[in-house]
Amino acid sequence: MTERVKTGIKGLDEMLHGGLIEGRPYLVSGGPGAGKTILCMQFLMEGAKNKEKGLYISLEEPAAELKKDMVSFGWDLQGVKIMDATQEAGSGIWLLKTDSVMSKPEFNVTNLIKVINDKLVEYKPKRIVIDSVTSIRLLYERKTDMRRDLLSLINFLIKSGCTTMLTAETGSREGNSLMEEFLTSGLIKLHSIETRGERISAVSVDKMRGSDFDRHIRPMKITNDGIVVFSSESIFE
Ligand SMILES: Nc1ncnc2c1ncn2[C@@H]1O[C@H](COP(=O)(O)OP(=O)(O)O)[C@@H](O)[C@H]1O
Ligand SMILES: [Mg+2]
Repeated sequence: MTERVKTGIKGLDEMLHGGLIEGRPYLVSGGPGAGKTILCMQFLMEGAKNKEKGLYISLEEPAAELKKDMVSFGWDLQGVKIMDATQEAGSGIWLLKTDSVMSKPEFNVTNLIKVINDKLVEYKPKRIVIDSVTSIRLLYERKTDMRRDLLSLINFLIKSGCTTMLTAETGSREGNSLMEEFLTSGLIKLHSIETRGERISAVSVDKMRGSDFDRHIRPMKITNDGIVVFSSESIFE
């Protein structure tokens, strides 16, 4: 069996039958506050532990805020490069603070691929996170244009050879179907479930090309050490 890429969350790696498959893109979906960002950071830090550099591309949360959140877990983020690609309040213009040749470029997928490519050459990461692709979706009026551009982004990520996590925010309007699910190699879903008047967090693997996986929804918790998944427990007692 080929070597798996560990997410760094033990219970989740068990659900994935060892981890992710190297070089492929995965989607992490969930509602606001579900733990998507935390999960992705754990994935990058796990790589950093093994001398695999990680690149985190923030499309929503300013880098300073993100670092503050992560420091509260006691994480120093050594070996993780954060690229702040947030936009100026919905203007479609980047706040990008890099030495990139583009000054105040328009925020679109073509430019995003360009700046990621610069970082790949310069920094040589093995793991990439794009958090979140929901900001990309908002750029489009036509679904066909969005699909074409998301597909070119995902194909670019596959060609990079890096193992990638993309996050997507699911809301009440969205329903259950995200186009990104069909374009990525796997889907990790974070849930918030109400049982007997109590809200519990849970995680499921809904798709994993090229591998078997645990098909149960498993309880999880956000603790002071990050996300913990209880891979042998059920959410239904
Ligand atoms: N030290 C902690 N202990 C428990 N929960 C925490 C801690 N730090 C943050 N959280 C919880 O983590 C959630 C935010 O996680 P985050 O990964 O940013 O969510 P998302 O990216 O899906 O919006 C919040 O609901 C917050 O309450
Ligand atoms: Mg987030």
